[in-house]
Amino acid sequence: MIVKINKSSKINTINFQNLNFGEIFTDHMFVCDFENNTWKEPQILPYDDIKISPSSSVFHYGQAVFEGMKAFKDDDGGIWLFRPEDNFKRLNISSKRLSIPEFPKKYFFEGLKKLLLLDQEWIKTGYGNSLYVRPFVFANKAGVSASPSDKYKFMIICSPAKSYYTGDTNVKIEENYSRACKGGIGFAKAAGNYAAQFYPTSLAINQGFQQVIWTDSETHSFIEESGTMNIFVKINDTLITSPTGDTILDGITRRSIIELSKHINQKVEIRKLSVDELVKSAENLELNEMFGCGTAVVINPIRSFSYKNKKFNLPEIKDNSIQNILKESILKIQYNKSSDIFNWRYKIN
Ligand SMILES: Cc1ncc(COP(=O)(O)O)c(C=O)c1O
Repeated sequence: MIVKINKSSKINTINFQNLNFGEIFTDHMFVCDFENNTWKEPQILPYDDIKISPSSSVFHYGQAVFEGMKAFKDDDGGIWLFRPEDNFKRLNISSKRLSIPEFPKKYFFEGLKKLLLLDQEWIKTGYGNSLYVRPFVFANKAGVSASPSDKYKFMIICSPAKSYYTGDTNVKIEENYSRACKGGIGFAKAAGNYAAQFYPTSLAINQGFQQVIWTDSETHSFIEESGTMNIFVKINDTLITSPTGDTILDGITRRSIIELSKHINQKVEIRKLSVDELVKSAENLELNEMFGCGTAVVINPIRSFSYKNKKFNLPEIKDNSIQNILKESILKIQYNKSSDIFNWRYKIN
């Protein structure tokens, strides 16, 4: 691996107490180019703009996928990633669907380690502080013919993050737009999936909601995801989440919640949940909790959902709610404050 050190670190200019998500990037970036049918020698370079042809196929045909993960620093300076093997696997699942060549595991983990060690001062200790790690890959062939590119660029960039108070989340159950369809690319972390969400989400925001609950594209009668998160509800004593398939991203936080729930004997069902069932459970006062989950916030409590212009409020979240218990357990594992019984932590230093 070629490593060029950034000789003018900007770390001393950063106010780590006041960070907006994803706006500041560390001193280095990982870059690896695919050309002549092979991934070339990876490089770590000072973080900088990159030069791309205006005819580069990513701009025209959208071959681009990404991942999102976090690095944490424990009180002794130990640096940890949370289930990065799962992110690596998902990256290549996404790539395959977008006709992007798979990225070698060796390069991914060597690159991650080297990058995080070089930029380790950017990871602050203390609950809530983390480094958001963004691997991504895009088609980079110059020319506008509508066919898979034969050149790609894989990169990893990193952004310091704090835990954010997500505020009250009131969601709208979507009855018109879809983020994914059968046989489509909803299961992939493809850039275009996010572009397709922005407009319907902005309509919901203008109506006073914070997020959209995506439903199946054929009937709009089954719950799929919550914004850019997977979704769980607790009806009576049972946690329920939709099965992943080609329309739902196989979230690593979702998977962790299922495994943890089973471990603590919290009943969890992975099955389709209809909007009708959700509405009835709310009307019968059987709907106790509803939350989104994902790498960025771990768990995002939902305060209310609206369907056909009718609003249904969730009960107040108690300290001993299952979402608080699960969030605390995941944070403790991530920050090396509890034993790692599932082998989820990945040591960097
Ligand atoms: C569409 C979508 N669903 C679910 C998730 C949650 O996945 P993970 O828990 O792996 O972050 C994400 C990413 O955060 C996402 O973009």
